Amino acid sequence: MKFVLSVLGAALLLAGCNGPSRETMLKGLESTPVNDILAKPELHRDADAVGKAVFVDNCASCHGADLKGLDDKHTPDLTDGKWLYWGDDLERYRMHPADIEKTILYGIRSGDPKSRNLAVMPAKGEDANLTPAEIDQTAEYILQLSGRPVDAAKAKQGQRVFADKGECWDCHLPDGTGDGALGSANLAQPDTWLYGSDRASIVRTLTEGRQGVCPAFHDKLTAGEIKAAAIYVHDAAAGLDF
Ligand code: HEC
Ligand code: HEC
Repeated sequence: MKFVLSVLGAALLLAGCNGPSRETMLKGLESTPVNDILAKPELHRDADAVGKAVFVDNCASCHGADLKGLDDKHTPDLTDGKWLYWGDDLERYRMHPADIEKTILYGIRSGDPKSRNLAVMPAKGEDANLTPAEIDQTAEYILQLSGRPVDAAKAKQGQRVFADKGECWDCHLPDGTGDGALGSANLAQPDTWLYGSDRASIVRTLTEGRQGVCPAFHDKLTAGEIKAAAIYVHDAAAGLDF
């Protein structure tokens, strides 16, 4: 009996060392809806293993190997639990792997007709509708919203521009906290911003506009690889509420 057990143990150990092939793992992932993978421990483990490799090869150049974003690529920290783009679960306001899968499949402003692309940050400079003085005042208000010391009178003028001529409230909500349907920034959380939070960067954002792009991957990766990457990003996040 002891012998049989130890042979069995050795066999299990061997199987553990080799693990299932990448192909076998991908087959399992492909045939399972991405949200269901979380409830299947073996498949979940496979997804994290495949997903990490997919991320290193396809995402790390822009998002960083640690998923924390790269300043010069203007990418968000995928681990901070703060989501630019909200998911579909409007009952619990919670992200699920399918919401991340959707971003990977179709991208953000990627040119794909299904990409997330309801709004861009419009240029508000002189060719649009704000004077340099109004931009300056609005920047002061944004600095105030994000907790920095400001010239209160100037910030008050900026608040007026925010709520009226600048139409900022329309996309960032009246309190400035952003709308995850549009992927507009939460202006009270400068640690989540993509384009710098100093005064000069804010002025540039307002004057020239911004429109970040995350590519679509449905034509570059298989369905299984995309699900694996979605699970990997999901698991790396510190929180899933939005
Ligand atoms: C039509 C919708 C829209 C309007 C109007 C708008 N924004 Fe935006 N804003 C966005 C979107 C979308 C983004 C995110 C762009 C991106 O991620 O590339 C953004 C980004 C920003 C950022 C950059 C944050 C970062 O990540 O660095 C600032 C600051 C900002 N907006 C302030 C303003 C102010 C102030 C106004 C009014 C003068 C304004 N926005 C008007 C949609 C809008
Ligand atoms: C060419 C650079 C680039 C590559 C490659 C790239 N991304 Fe992105 N990604 C971005 C940018 C830029 C944004 C922010 C877009 C915006 O301004 O809203 C983004 C946003 C995202 C978001 C949204 C996060 C949130 O808070 O809602 C997710 C999720 C994401 N990327 C996942 C991935 C994954 C997974 C891969 C690889 C399969 C990948 N990206 C590859 C540039 C890239």
